[in-house]
Amino acid sequence: MKFFIDTANLEQIKEAQSLGVLDGVTTNPSLMAKEGITGHDNILKHYVDICALVDGDVSAEVIATDVAGMIKEGEALAKLHEQIVVKIPMIKDGIKAIKYFSDRGIRTNCTLVFSSGQALLAAKAGATYVSPFIGRLDDISTDGLNLIAEIRLIYDNYGFQTQILAASVRHTMHILDCAKIGADVMTGPLSSIEGLLKHPLTDIGLAKFLEDYNKGN
Ligand code: E4P
Repeated sequence: MKFFIDTANLEQIKEAQSLGVLDGVTTNPSLMAKEGITGHDNILKHYVDICALVDGDVSAEVIATDVAGMIKEGEALAKLHEQIVVKIPMIKDGIKAIKYFSDRGIRTNCTLVFSSGQALLAAKAGATYVSPFIGRLDDISTDGLNLIAEIRLIYDNYGFQTQILAASVRHTMHILDCAKIGADVMTGPLSSIEGLLKHPLTDIGLAKFLEDYNKGN
């Protein structure tokens, strides 16, 4: 299972990278705005800065919503750095753009996916990644994890190579549940990854080991 961090915050990206378990980064226009990164040129520069910090894939989202605009923007994003994956929204023109990029070997991440039908279309168009937003489904009392399971079943039935990128992960249990279902990738905040470290018995056990060691010294 690949671990992506879902942020545009360079310090958090560095911290996750230093753990040695980071496989990539996802961003979106809201995450950029949260870090105060606004304006076309600043956003492009920020993508390049992120690529310099990590070894894996970095999703960069198009703003255009028409196929011609998405192709123009996506081609420019892909040229920025070899690690860039062009992130395209799940709309009709988005599917056309994904197909265009897939035919030309440019990697894509189909974002804002909320149903298995949308995920099936994204795979048919040749998306590299599909991003079902599990947290946002949970927010509206719909089982986000069930969507991951449905997509896993459908992709396995036909051998689709599109990777399931569980997005909108909010906490550690989401990561574990996605791992059990067989999501290829998860993207979440640093806190969700660091949550995997924690167990009170580890802390108690370590304190006792150190206490006993110090008795003899
Ligand atoms: C995915 O790529 C999105 O950036 C992200 O996971 C959205 O998460 P949120 O629902 O917590 O905003």
